[in-house]
Amino acid sequence: MPRTFYVTTPIYYVNDVPHIGHAYTTIAADSLARYKRLTGYDCFFLTGTDEHGQKVEKAAQESGQTPLELADQVVERFKGLWTKLHISFDDFIRTTQKRHVEAVTALYQRIWLKGDIYLGDYEDWYCTPCETFWTQTQLAEGNRCPDCGRPTEKLKEKSYFFRMSRYQDALLRHLEENPNFIQPPSRYNEILNFVRSGLKDLSISRTTFRWGIPVPNDPDHVIYVWFDALTNYITAAGFPGDKERFQRYWPADCHIIGKDILRFHAVYWPTFLMSADLPLPKKIFAHGWWTVEGQKMSKSLGNVVDPHQLVDEYGVDPIRYFLLREVPFGTDGDFSRSALVHRINGDLANDLGNLVSRVLAMVKKYRKGIVPSAQRGSEGEGRLSTRVNEAVEEMGIYMEQLAFHRALGAVWDLVGAANKYLDETSPWNLAKDEGRRKELEGILYNSLEVLRIVAILLFPFLPSTAQRMWEMLGLRGKLGEQRIKKGQMWGGLPEGLQVAKPTPLFPRIE
Ligand code: ME8
Ligand code: MG
Repeated sequence: MPRTFYVTTPIYYVNDVPHIGHAYTTIAADSLARYKRLTGYDCFFLTGTDEHGQKVEKAAQESGQTPLELADQVVERFKGLWTKLHISFDDFIRTTQKRHVEAVTALYQRIWLKGDIYLGDYEDWYCTPCETFWTQTQLAEGNRCPDCGRPTEKLKEKSYFFRMSRYQDALLRHLEENPNFIQPPSRYNEILNFVRSGLKDLSISRTTFRWGIPVPNDPDHVIYVWFDALTNYITAAGFPGDKERFQRYWPADCHIIGKDILRFHAVYWPTFLMSADLPLPKKIFAHGWWTVEGQKMSKSLGNVVDPHQLVDEYGVDPIRYFLLREVPFGTDGDFSRSALVHRINGDLANDLGNLVSRVLAMVKKYRKGIVPSAQRGSEGEGRLSTRVNEAVEEMGIYMEQLAFHRALGAVWDLVGAANKYLDETSPWNLAKDEGRRKELEGILYNSLEVLRIVAILLFPFLPSTAQRMWEMLGLRGKLGEQRIKKGQMWGGLPEGLQVAKPTPLFPRIE
């Protein structure tokens, strides 16, 4: 049986419309999932929507809809964007689904039976837009929310509490024994310090609104949105009913999230699971934050980048490429059109696009567009196949670290090596000499073979471009069915295929 790999994005709030930040997390998770499938894993890639809570209740009221009607509409927008961005999710969870309500109820009950939930009084400063309580010391000037800067209000309510404090030592031990549990290291340290400074019990029910999952045996309360939302990761893995599936996929291999929601994932979630005697996820990776042309993205500034529009303007793969190549995963980044155009013209049109068109043009000119036979054992073949092995090896290491920019860098090193190989061997000179025909054929074959392998390696990141390259080489079938195997890539291109006429992969942008 193939090994499994379970990767998740956060589930997105339905009181917001999808923007470039959401697209970022989802594209990263998609590239990882596609890579894992190509290396032979039974991959389960989950995304979805977070539909309960006061904000959704309010937004629905304002637009004269039921919360579910509002959610249904926004869900379509998310799904439409994911189709457009070629996101290969295996499951789309909505927290309003029956399976999820059952899972949240079951998880709550397990924690209750453990003796880790009690009824108490909760009073603190509450930021309604953020759905977060803050202590006095956390507040910004003028009792404002430290996250969004809006005014908070003192709120007191009866609430069920989770005995999170009981799990402080266990979580600390887990962190110390698993230094890769949270990545990158700066985020790990942030959480380590937070846990060391002490965990308080956590309020996990609300009575101030209705739109949520009722607390079992006390339906005046609804379950706190984060308890509800985090549970999605086990719902989709089959909890509680489908034991076989749960056994297969849980614990998740990687939760990919933004740094803004790290504490919920790295402190609350593991302690809930510990209390319920369920295994913890293997890794939580918190990526950085995107600004736009140097500014924070916000509705009020009117600079929210709409991914639909970007894709219409530049195409899907250039956007996927830019987001993953421009900044190291884990670091903050700035989105600007000039940086995007620079990447498109440089990396995509020049380096990759030129390689493809010059190789195809030569095959057409010197071989009537037919893939020649390989000439085994040349020095050039040895050099290129070594570069291929290195690229595959490096990619494996970098994908393990979620260093997408480096994985792409490794493929671009290979592209660079192939361009250099052509410059050095100058097939256009060999073509003038009938006596060197075999040598010319060998060079063309080797270059085409690099293109075939580059197509496979790029598939996780640029799925439609990679498929186009595949077909340009005269190859058939779906690239997703290919496999990346270390040390076994070279020489798979059959001779005799008819390659396509050279057309630019990426038009240059003026
Ligand atoms: O937090 N730069 O959902 P959400 C980078 N429902 N990433 C960004 C971003 C930006 N400017 N803006 C948003 C929630 N994101 C909860 C999650 S999970 C159990 C519940 C990304 O719709 C980032 O990944 O606010 C962030 O974590 C996610 O969008 C939050 O989406
Ligand atoms: Mg958010």
